Amino acid sequence: MMRVPYVAVAEAGELAPGQMKRVRVGGKRLLLCNAEGSHYCVDEMCSHEDYSLYFGCIKGRSIKCSLHGSHFDLADGRPLNEPADCPIRSYPVAVEEGQVWVDPR
Ligand code: FES
Repeated sequence: MMRVPYVAVAEAGELAPGQMKRVRVGGKRLLLCNAEGSHYCVDEMCSHEDYSLYFGCIKGRSIKCSLHGSHFDLADGRPLNEPADCPIRSYPVAVEEGQVWVDPR
């Protein structure tokens, strides 16, 4: 059994590669992403303006903001191109017991 603070946010097979899901964990609005078969969890909102990355798309191991086109590396949240110059946060993810778990701290 995964221990606190990990929280189950999806079934292991729920998201196909390229898909994402908005989740609320620990009072935070996060995005669970399947990028090339691996799960990542990042802040839902772009660091550039208050705009949801849910409206963007997953490209390789990054997520693209659809408002101004910045990409963020899903593994560490760093921006890969302008105009965003601040990272978003990336949260630890584990897949166990048929579920995807996130540590939202
Ligand atoms: S709001 Fe995301 S790049 Fe501008």
